[in-house]
Amino acid sequence: MSQRHFISLLDLTSDEHRALIAHAIDTKQKLKQGISHTPLSGKLLAMIFEKSSTRTRVSFEAGMYQLGGHAIFMSPRDSHLGRGEPIEDSAKVISSMVDGILIRTFGHDRLETLAQHSCVPVINGLSDLLHPCQLLADMQTWFELRGDIAGATVAWIGDGNNMCHSYINAAIRYGFNLRVAAPPGHHPDPDLVQSGGDRISLHETAIDAAQNADLVVTDVWASMGQEEEQEQRLQSFADYQVNDRIMQSAHADALFMHCLPAHRDEEVSTAVLESPQSVVWQEAENRLHAQKALLEFLLCGGL
Ligand code: CP
Ligand code: NVA
Repeated sequence: MSQRHFISLLDLTSDEHRALIAHAIDTKQKLKQGISHTPLSGKLLAMIFEKSSTRTRVSFEAGMYQLGGHAIFMSPRDSHLGRGEPIEDSAKVISSMVDGILIRTFGHDRLETLAQHSCVPVINGLSDLLHPCQLLADMQTWFELRGDIAGATVAWIGDGNNMCHSYINAAIRYGFNLRVAAPPGHHPDPDLVQSGGDRISLHETAIDAAQNADLVVTDVWASMGQEEEQEQRLQSFADYQVNDRIMQSAHADALFMHCLPAHRDEEVSTAVLESPQSVVWQEAENRLHAQKALLEFLLCGGL
């Protein structure tokens, strides 16, 4: 079997996703009981960050340590990645010395090229196109609080960005329905929307997308690399803030998620972010547990 990677949620089957989430929930509970689990003893993960990160870096580094392994942080500033060494060459060299590579980068093609030339698993720690690791944490959080998400209705409000794209892939693998509301010019990739078939629907207004939703999700209006568009985007997205009015359109027990960092009173009101329906802190913590299960799955060849 060829080398497995985690570039997209679609790289795992629905059964593998559910096994991974179950394992994440189980090992999280054991960790809290003081039971250690070190299947990655002696294993190394290289972590390439070409964009900023708080959660992804800390969760992968802490996760490798807790699993008995070790993580090596690399940035373009202090490696040859930032001095023009081809990503193909970097892939061959780095993968000859470690057991897995995590990369956060801009162009998705760079990530795919790295994976093609790596002899160890490559994990997508966010690209301009996708952010699959975040979805593992979001799914774990839902499963912990509500059980299986199959058949549920999820509303994505805001930018049709990397997170929205990964929600489309999650709808396919986990079997939920996704209602997307994004302003003109900021819709998700049409091919990805089409790949989700009837599970994905596009809505003109945020309130319409949120109608009867079980989960409401948003993200920043300007992603990393779009800083210069920030002012323009504040205007384009003004009608797409998740606030009390939007949450009232959803089911009374609907949850709110945000991958963080959040911009209070831009894409989400402070009141919603800090409401009892908001599970963003549990969601952030689950980055650690869900990715530990992913690391074990990829670096040990199964769970
Ligand atoms: N949600 C997320 O990926 O956060 P970081 O950018 O801090 O890693
Ligand atoms: N869409 C955001 C997610 C940050 C975790 C970005 O790409 O910057």
